[in-house]
Amino acid sequence: MRMVDLIEKKRDGKALTTEEIQFVIDGYTKGAIPDYQMSAFAMAVFFQDMNEQERADLTMAMVQSGDTIDLSAIEGIKVDKHSTGGVGDTTTLVLGPLVASLGVPVAKMSGRGLGHTGGTIDKLESISGFHVEISNDEFIQLVNEHKLAVIGQSGNLTPADKKLYALRDVTGTVNSIPLIASSIMSKKIAAGADAICLDVKTGAGAFMKTIEGSRELAQAMVNIGNSVGRKTMAVISDMSQPLGFAVGNALEVREAIDTLRGVGPEDLTELCLTLGSHMVVLAEKASSLEEARQLLLESIKTGKAIEKFKTFLRAQGGDDSIVDDPSKLPQAPFTIELPAKEDGYVSEIVADEIGIAAMLLGAGRATKESTIDLSVGIVLHKKIGDKVKKGESLLTIHANQENVVEVKQKLYSNIKISKEKIEAPILIHEEITL
Ligand code: URA
Ligand code: CA
Repeated sequence: MRMVDLIEKKRDGKALTTEEIQFVIDGYTKGAIPDYQMSAFAMAVFFQDMNEQERADLTMAMVQSGDTIDLSAIEGIKVDKHSTGGVGDTTTLVLGPLVASLGVPVAKMSGRGLGHTGGTIDKLESISGFHVEISNDEFIQLVNEHKLAVIGQSGNLTPADKKLYALRDVTGTVNSIPLIASSIMSKKIAAGADAICLDVKTGAGAFMKTIEGSRELAQAMVNIGNSVGRKTMAVISDMSQPLGFAVGNALEVREAIDTLRGVGPEDLTELCLTLGSHMVVLAEKASSLEEARQLLLESIKTGKAIEKFKTFLRAQGGDDSIVDDPSKLPQAPFTIELPAKEDGYVSEIVADEIGIAAMLLGAGRATKESTIDLSVGIVLHKKIGDKVKKGESLLTIHANQENVVEVKQKLYSNIKISKEKIEAPILIHEEITL
């Protein structure tokens, strides 16, 4: 086989065979196929797309390019959740303990954040003593014992995806449904999930800005998962504004604690209940979504969910007293309000720009090497549709310095107030199954 022939075949809109796709991914991973040929190939896929079989083949070729995690020693159906991007997305922190409290095993491999989207590990590391540097054996033992553990990304998982994603980033080929879908799904499958619950964001802060694009991406991932034997479903949720109120690491831990206690923001709570119900059903711990939701609500009400969070923190060295006393979490020395400049209704809170503002405060990494300040961030007081009076605070900035002029300017230019009444955006657009 010759790479140039396969590039031409795809360029001319023909479908590649399983063996041909394996040849491309295997050759690229090993370095036998150079970046310039792979760039041409990615561009051909970008314009010609891939059929369902090719997408599944590409996903599995990337899974097989490196190590895979064997979670078979964990009892029960391992359900993984994945949210595509998002700003101030605290769902993983809430969902882990919440579904684990119903006996669903959650074996979470997680990463640190890059850019304006926070990583779950960064958030958890704002808890004194908590660490994710555990061995695979310890990880499996913790999940069997407590139904929940988080481990850092380790080993050589989907090296083909790592290499290809970096190449796509500089060749204008990121925004391709088959390439995004196979990239995300290969990582979930390599990490050992039996079933996968996807949270595909839509709107200004999301990867996909339109509902049509999000639906297409969600359907592509659902099809791939199910065609390779992983029960997969997707929810399309709003990311036109940040989820919940808090954006920033320790601030989001506080928000997760509130939500696990049943006093969290309405949108975050609702999304967690929706995703959680699907996870519980996928794990066969309830026979219907309604039953699953009732069980989750009960777990919040009785304190089972928050107790599970404490147990999980202790098991990984974390100080669980922060749950009852969140003032022990890292706190920024300065809190600065952002008063509304006029009366009206909040009509826009551009999610990714709010994320970038939090990053400028020090909450996110501009480059992989940046160190982050776990205490800083933004807490919204108003969301889209809320009425606001001139002078009333729109949000609180938690900063490590007094001068936040630049951040304030960015926030003002990305929060719009309208004279007319505005409806709150729809939170859950669609639920997509096979
Ligand atoms: N996230 C991924 O992991 N891969 C993509 O291609 C896009 C977003
Ligand atoms: Ca949040």
